[in-house]
Amino acid sequence: PPVAPFAISFDHEAARLEPEGPTLTRRMSDLEGLFADHEAWQAAVADGDPVVYRVQSSPVPEVDRELPQSITTIEPGTTGGELWMTKGHQHPNHQGEIYLGLHGAGGLLMYDGTRHEWIDMAPGTIGYIPPGWAHRSVNTGDEPYSFLAVYPGGAGHDYGWVLEHGMGARAYRTASGHELRPWS
Ligand code: 6PG
Ligand code: NI
Repeated sequence: PPVAPFAISFDHEAARLEPEGPTLTRRMSDLEGLFADHEAWQAAVADGDPVVYRVQSSPVPEVDRELPQSITTIEPGTTGGELWMTKGHQHPNHQGEIYLGLHGAGGLLMYDGTRHEWIDMAPGTIGYIPPGWAHRSVNTGDEPYSFLAVYPGGAGHDYGWVLEHGMGARAYRTASGHELRPWS
Protein backbone atom coordinates (compact mmCIF):
# COMPACT_ATOMS: atom_id res chain seq x y z
CA PRO A 1 0.00 0.00 0.00
CA PRO A 2 1.17 3.61 -0.53
CA VAL A 3 2.73 5.40 2.45
CA ALA A 4 0.50 7.83 4.38
CA PRO A 5 1.02 11.56 3.78
CA PHE A 6 3.81 13.11 5.83
CA ALA A 7 6.04 16.19 5.89
CA ILE A 8 9.73 16.08 5.12
CA SER A 9 11.83 18.93 6.39
CA PHE A 10 14.28 20.01 3.73
CA ASP A 11 17.39 21.80 4.96
CA HIS A 12 18.66 23.25 1.75
CA GLU A 13 21.81 24.81 3.27
CA ALA A 14 22.88 21.58 4.94
CA ALA A 15 21.60 19.51 1.98
CA ARG A 16 19.68 17.16 4.28
CA LEU A 17 16.23 15.60 4.48
CA GLU A 18 14.54 14.87 7.83
CA PRO A 19 13.34 12.23 8.56
CA GLU A 20 16.19 10.41 6.88
CA GLY A 21 15.94 7.21 4.94
CA PRO A 22 18.92 5.04 4.13
CA THR A 23 22.25 6.64 3.14
CA LEU A 24 24.44 5.07 0.46
CA THR A 25 28.18 5.75 0.47
CA ARG A 26 30.18 5.23 -2.71
CA ARG A 27 33.94 5.00 -2.35
CA MET A 28 36.53 5.01 -5.11
CA SER A 29 36.59 1.20 -5.07
CA ASP A 30 32.87 1.20 -5.96
CA LEU A 31 33.64 3.08 -9.19
CA GLU A 32 35.63 0.35 -10.96
CA GLY A 33 35.77 0.68 -14.74
CA LEU A 34 34.29 4.18 -14.78
CA PHE A 35 37.31 6.53 -14.94
CA ALA A 36 39.23 6.48 -18.24
CA ASP A 37 42.60 6.26 -16.41
CA HIS A 38 42.49 2.82 -14.79
CA GLU A 39 45.93 3.18 -13.16
CA ALA A 40 45.00 6.49 -11.55
CA TRP A 41 41.82 4.84 -10.25
CA GLN A 42 43.82 1.92 -8.79
CA ALA A 43 46.25 4.34 -7.12
CA ALA A 44 43.35 6.25 -5.53
CA VAL A 45 41.84 3.02 -4.19
CA ALA A 46 45.23 2.04 -2.73
CA ASP A 47 45.70 5.54 -1.30
CA GLY A 48 42.88 5.45 1.26
CA ASP A 49 39.93 4.57 -1.00
CA PRO A 50 38.24 7.97 -0.44
CA VAL A 51 34.49 8.58 -0.31
CA VAL A 52 33.52 10.05 -3.70
CA TYR A 53 29.80 10.63 -3.01
CA ARG A 54 26.92 9.93 -0.65
CA VAL A 55 23.21 9.55 -1.43
CA GLN A 56 20.76 10.28 1.39
CA SER A 57 17.27 8.98 0.63
CA SER A 58 13.90 10.12 1.94
CA PRO A 59 11.82 7.49 3.74
CA VAL A 60 9.53 7.14 0.69
CA PRO A 61 10.00 3.60 -0.64
CA GLU A 62 11.36 2.82 -4.11
CA VAL A 63 8.22 1.11 -5.37
CA ASP A 64 5.94 1.76 -8.32
CA ARG A 65 3.71 4.88 -8.13
CA GLU A 66 5.61 6.33 -5.14
CA LEU A 67 7.74 9.44 -5.71
CA PRO A 68 10.94 9.14 -3.62
CA GLN A 69 13.59 11.83 -3.23
CA SER A 70 17.29 11.74 -2.46
CA ILE A 71 20.14 14.17 -1.94
CA THR A 72 23.48 13.34 -3.54
CA THR A 73 26.67 15.05 -2.34
CA ILE A 74 29.77 14.57 -4.50
CA GLU A 75 33.15 15.49 -3.01
CA PRO A 76 35.51 17.68 -5.07
CA GLY A 77 38.39 15.88 -6.75
CA THR A 78 39.89 14.40 -9.89
CA THR A 79 41.24 11.00 -10.90
CA GLY A 80 43.58 11.09 -13.89
CA GLY A 81 42.32 14.64 -14.46
CA GLU A 82 38.70 13.42 -14.71
CA LEU A 83 36.30 15.15 -12.34
CA TRP A 84 34.74 13.08 -9.56
CA MET A 85 31.31 11.87 -10.55
CA THR A 86 28.51 9.43 -9.89
CA LYS A 87 28.48 6.00 -11.52
CA GLY A 88 25.64 7.02 -13.83
CA HIS A 89 22.69 4.88 -14.81
CA GLN A 90 19.72 4.43 -17.09
CA HIS A 91 16.19 3.96 -15.74
CA PRO A 92 15.11 0.63 -17.24
CA ASN A 93 11.48 1.70 -17.53
CA HIS A 94 12.66 4.92 -19.23
CA GLN A 95 11.08 7.18 -16.68
CA GLY A 96 12.00 10.86 -16.32
CA GLU A 97 13.55 12.52 -13.28
CA ILE A 98 14.06 16.01 -11.81
CA TYR A 99 17.22 17.36 -10.18
CA LEU A 100 17.50 20.60 -8.17
CA GLY A 101 20.96 22.09 -7.51
CA LEU A 102 21.48 22.85 -3.78
CA HIS A 103 25.12 23.62 -3.09
CA GLY A 104 28.38 24.00 -4.98
CA ALA A 105 28.93 23.69 -8.72
CA GLY A 106 28.26 20.67 -10.86
CA GLY A 107 27.14 19.28 -14.15
CA LEU A 108 24.45 16.89 -15.31
CA LEU A 109 25.71 14.77 -18.21
CA MET A 110 23.04 12.88 -20.16
CA TYR A 111 23.36 10.37 -22.99
CA ASP A 112 20.65 8.70 -25.05
CA GLY A 113 22.98 6.25 -26.80
CA THR A 114 23.54 8.62 -29.71
CA ARG A 115 24.16 12.10 -28.43
CA HIS A 116 25.08 13.67 -25.12
CA GLU A 117 23.86 16.81 -23.37
CA TRP A 118 25.38 18.78 -20.48
CA ILE A 119 23.56 21.06 -18.05
CA ASP A 120 25.57 23.32 -15.71
CA MET A 121 24.08 22.86 -12.23
CA ALA A 122 24.17 25.63 -9.60
CA PRO A 123 22.00 26.20 -6.51
CA GLY A 124 18.47 26.73 -7.83
CA THR A 125 18.99 25.08 -11.24
CA ILE A 126 16.40 22.46 -12.14
CA GLY A 127 17.91 19.85 -14.42
CA TYR A 128 15.34 17.76 -16.27
CA ILE A 129 16.22 14.21 -17.31
CA PRO A 130 13.83 13.07 -20.04
CA PRO A 131 12.82 9.42 -20.32
CA GLY A 132 15.50 7.31 -22.01
CA TRP A 133 18.50 9.50 -21.13
CA ALA A 134 21.22 7.90 -18.98
CA HIS A 135 22.53 10.42 -16.44
CA ARG A 136 25.71 11.07 -14.47
CA SER A 137 26.48 13.96 -12.11
CA VAL A 138 29.88 15.64 -11.88
CA ASN A 139 31.40 17.98 -9.29
CA THR A 140 33.02 20.77 -11.34
CA GLY A 141 34.01 22.93 -8.34
CA ASP A 142 36.36 22.83 -5.36
CA GLU A 143 33.76 22.28 -2.64
CA PRO A 144 31.10 19.55 -2.23
CA TYR A 145 28.34 19.62 -4.87
CA SER A 146 24.82 18.66 -3.69
CA PHE A 147 21.54 18.21 -5.52
CA LEU A 148 18.06 16.91 -4.78
CA ALA A 149 16.62 14.22 -7.07
CA VAL A 150 12.92 13.32 -7.41
CA TYR A 151 12.16 10.17 -9.37
CA PRO A 152 9.45 7.55 -9.90
CA GLY A 153 9.79 4.80 -7.29
CA GLY A 154 9.51 2.07 -9.92
CA ALA A 155 12.17 3.56 -12.20
CA GLY A 156 14.96 1.12 -11.26
CA HIS A 157 18.70 1.77 -11.73
CA ASP A 158 20.55 0.09 -14.60
CA TYR A 159 24.31 0.59 -14.08
CA GLY A 160 25.31 -2.01 -16.69
CA TRP A 161 23.92 0.20 -19.45
CA VAL A 162 26.61 2.83 -18.78
CA LEU A 163 29.40 0.21 -18.65
CA GLU A 164 28.19 -1.08 -22.02
CA HIS A 165 27.34 2.14 -23.86
CA GLY A 166 29.37 4.81 -22.04
CA MET A 167 28.12 8.35 -21.45
CA GLY A 168 29.08 10.02 -24.74
CA ALA A 169 31.65 12.34 -23.09
CA ARG A 170 33.93 12.75 -20.07
CA ALA A 171 34.43 15.85 -17.89
CA TYR A 172 37.99 16.97 -17.05
CA ARG A 173 39.56 19.65 -14.88
CA THR A 174 41.35 22.37 -16.89
CA ALA A 175 43.37 25.42 -15.84
CA SER A 176 40.35 27.67 -16.36
CA GLY A 177 37.62 25.32 -15.11
CA HIS A 178 36.39 22.17 -16.82
CA GLU A 179 35.82 20.78 -20.29
CA LEU A 180 34.03 17.86 -21.92
CA ARG A 181 36.08 15.48 -24.04
CA PRO A 182 34.82 12.77 -26.38
CA TRP A 183 34.20 9.34 -24.83
CA SER A 184 37.33 7.22 -24.47
C1 6PG B 1 18.18 8.34 -9.01
C2 6PG B 1 18.96 9.60 -9.16
C3 6PG B 1 20.06 9.85 -8.12
C4 6PG B 1 21.29 8.97 -8.29
C5 6PG B 1 22.44 9.43 -7.39
C6 6PG B 1 23.67 8.54 -7.42
O1 6PG B 1 17.70 7.82 -10.03
O2 6PG B 1 17.97 7.85 -7.89
O3 6PG B 1 19.43 9.72 -10.45
O4 6PG B 1 19.55 9.74 -6.82
O5 6PG B 1 20.98 7.63 -8.03
O6 6PG B 1 22.84 10.72 -7.75
O7 6PG B 1 24.08 8.25 -8.75
P1 6PG B 1 24.24 6.74 -9.20
O8 6PG B 1 22.92 6.08 -8.90
O9 6PG B 1 24.51 6.82 -10.67
O10 6PG B 1 25.33 6.14 -8.40
NI1 NI C 1 18.27 8.52 -11.96
